[in-house]
Amino acid sequence: MNIFTLDMTNVLSKTIGKEGLHKKDIVSTSSKLKTYNKTLWDAPYPFMELPSLMFQFKEMGQLADTIKKKHIKNLVLLGIGGSSLGTETIFHALLHPFHNLHEDMRNGKPRYFILDNIDPHKMNRVIEITEKEKDNTLLVVISKSGETPETISQFMILKETLGKEKNFRDRVVIITDKNKGILKEIVDKEGYAVLNVPEGVGGRFSVLTPVGLFPSLVMGIDIDEIVNGAKDMAAHIREKPYKENMAITLASILYLMERKGKHIHVIMPYCERLSGFADWFRQLEAESLGKNHLGATPLKSMGVTDQHSQLQLYVEGPKDKCIMFLYSAQEKRLIPRSFSYIESIDYLGGKDLKDLFYAEFIGTRLSLTEAKRPNFTLQLENINGYNLGALFFLYEMVITYLGYLYNVNAFDQPGVELGKIYTKALMGKKDLVKERKTTNRALSNSKTLISF
Ligand code: PA5
Repeated sequence: MNIFTLDMTNVLSKTIGKEGLHKKDIVSTSSKLKTYNKTLWDAPYPFMELPSLMFQFKEMGQLADTIKKKHIKNLVLLGIGGSSLGTETIFHALLHPFHNLHEDMRNGKPRYFILDNIDPHKMNRVIEITEKEKDNTLLVVISKSGETPETISQFMILKETLGKEKNFRDRVVIITDKNKGILKEIVDKEGYAVLNVPEGVGGRFSVLTPVGLFPSLVMGIDIDEIVNGAKDMAAHIREKPYKENMAITLASILYLMERKGKHIHVIMPYCERLSGFADWFRQLEAESLGKNHLGATPLKSMGVTDQHSQLQLYVEGPKDKCIMFLYSAQEKRLIPRSFSYIESIDYLGGKDLKDLFYAEFIGTRLSLTEAKRPNFTLQLENINGYNLGALFFLYEMVITYLGYLYNVNAFDQPGVELGKIYTKALMGKKDLVKERKTTNRALSNSKTLISF
């Protein structure tokens, strides 16, 4: 079986009529990307070079070896957005789903806590756990800018609660920009171990740098395998003729679908282990392309769970969605013939849960197709580090091509920056006097309230 198989039958007008795409339109958009692809690899974006660069692999290995000797029981990752979602995706896909519950499931590896939110409720619970094991808790603080208030404030809190312990400094790793930012200033002053985000690689494109790979290495994940998958996918994308090129074809479909009014892009894995990937992709697509009033809205749904929550809307609601299925199932579990006296469940007894999972996927896909709702499927023969690396790289390239087609800069996020400034102003950052006036005015204007 192929490692990935893309089935686009159900986006074609041949299958779903006028809601679908003509093959010639896909070919014409793809051929534009073919021309772009040629020049792109001559002057690649920095993230495209990561698979062959293996940035700081040696430093990561040395640091992970030192850490191994410290009998770490908890890895606490501080980071948000592109600084945490890649790691979360890898952990979801490659670690035991109940990793933290029991040592048997962890196989000697630390528990992990990813603090990608600052709700004090979660922070306080993590403090309660780690306070009891201060000597065995590793903090990995990740921020490319080194300035993100969520991450810095978490670090300030945990330094206070864990930092009085002997050798605290040896149990902190900072991942940040090499040349600038508050975190760098802290590293220079306090001497924590440091790894870097390479120049020109933005947060959401940084999973194949220490940002996503160092925490993975600490958890015993084979990061070479991840990078090898990305490297082979890069070769596919660079070399394959455009009609057989997975990234070019996917980008063309997503672009044409959105231009046709399918403004909502549902990513629906039938694979629990890709639940994190859907979150990672959601950020990548939204933050990279949501510009100049363009871009589709990515929506995450999980098969089969959301068949019982969202599917009604997808089949009979507005015709504004294109559904991307990711399917992968390997393990089996026999459904025994329990309750054999009930005839109506005969069809389940003796079958396999994997077959039911597949039947539910096919049933859902068929119901969407019959309702003329465009959908396509990327099937993965297995979930492992290699395939995950290939998947990351594939979608990073899809987004890069979409940026080109939309003519937007896929690598900045100006819409996020203003909210950050207002947050800092509200919190009293000294130099933001004008912004504070705006926030105070907005707060005093909130008069349309209903109370209960
Ligand atoms: O993709 C991005 O650039 C963002 O999502 C960032 O990763 C996020 O805002 C966190 O920024 P930083 O890594 O600078 O703390």
